[in-house]
Amino acid sequence: MAKILIATDKPFAPVAVKGIREIVENAGFELALLEKYTEKTQLLEAVKTADAIIVRSDIIDKDVLDVAKQLKIVVRAGAGYDNIDLNAATSKGVCVMNTPGQNANAVAELVFGLLIYGIRGFFNGTSGTELKDKKLGILAYGHVGRNVARIGKGFGLKQYAFDAYASIVAIENDGVKVVSSREELFKTCQIVSLHIPATEETKKSINFELMNQMPKGAIVVNTARKEVIDESGLAKMFAERPDFKYLTDIQPSNHAELLAAYPDRYFATPKKMGAQTAEANINAGLAAANQIVDFLKNGNEKYRVNK
Ligand code: 3PG
Repeated sequence: MAKILIATDKPFAPVAVKGIREIVENAGFELALLEKYTEKTQLLEAVKTADAIIVRSDIIDKDVLDVAKQLKIVVRAGAGYDNIDLNAATSKGVCVMNTPGQNANAVAELVFGLLIYGIRGFFNGTSGTELKDKKLGILAYGHVGRNVARIGKGFGLKQYAFDAYASIVAIENDGVKVVSSREELFKTCQIVSLHIPATEETKKSINFELMNQMPKGAIVVNTARKEVIDESGLAKMFAERPDFKYLTDIQPSNHAELLAAYPDRYFATPKKMGAQTAEANINAGLAAANQIVDFLKNGNEKYRVNK
C-alpha cells in the first residue's frame, strides 16, 4: 500500500489534515503524519518509507531525496517551491508539484491586515492615515497579486502593477494600471506589495536604490520571500528615510536589530502567517492530496514544476 507522508514543520489546521486523510484513505493509500518536527533527522527517518510527501515550506534537499528510496512525488501545498531541490528531484525521477492559487486569498488578506496596522501607527492611538486614494504598486501579478488587486479596489486604492510575464490585458481588465518597469512602479507608488518568487533573478533585487525611489511615506509590504530583499539595503533605507515603513510576515536575518532600532516603522510577525488560515490549509492540503492520488493512480502531471 502506498504511503503518503504529510511533513509539516508548521502544521495544517486539524480540519485540513482530516480532509487529506479522507482523500488518501478513500483512494486505498496510507497516511503518515510528521508535524512540528524540530530536527532534520526526524524528517530523514520519516521519508524513508514514503511514496509521496506533502510539504509546506519544509526543506526537501538532496539529503532528504537520497534517503527517500521509494519516493515518487513531492507536492508543495502552496505556491513557492524554492524549498525543494528540483535538480536533485529530477535526477532521482521524483515529480515535484505545487498547488498554485490555493492559498492566495489568505496571503492577500494578510497584506491588508499589515497595511492597516502600518498606516494606523501600529495601533498606538495617534492619528494615522487611510488607504483610500493612495497608490498601491503590486510587484508580480500572479494569484496573490490578483487577489490583492481585488481587495484593494474595495479600499479605493489607485492600483498599479508590474509583471514581466503576465498578460497586460488581463491586468488592465482588473482596473489596474500596468507600468513598464519595477523602477516605475516604485517611483509611482507610496505603497508597494511584493509577490515575486525567490529565484536567482529576484534574490536581493529589492534594494536601497529601488526602494529609495518611492514617494514620501513609503511602505513596502513583503508577504513573498525574505530572500528577495537586500537586507543591507533595507537597513540603509530605514536609516536614511525616516518616513519609511516595512511590514512583513517573514522576518529578515537582521530582524532583531531593525525591531530594536525602528519599533514604530518596522513590523514582522513572529512566524510566517500568510497562508495560516483554515481555508488556505484546506484548499492547498486537499489539492495536494488529490494531485498525489491522481498522479499515483493515473499518472496525471498537470502541476509538475520540474522537468
Ligand atoms: C506559499 O509559497 O504558498 C506561501 O509562502 C505559504 O507558505 P507556507 O505554506 O509555508 O505557510
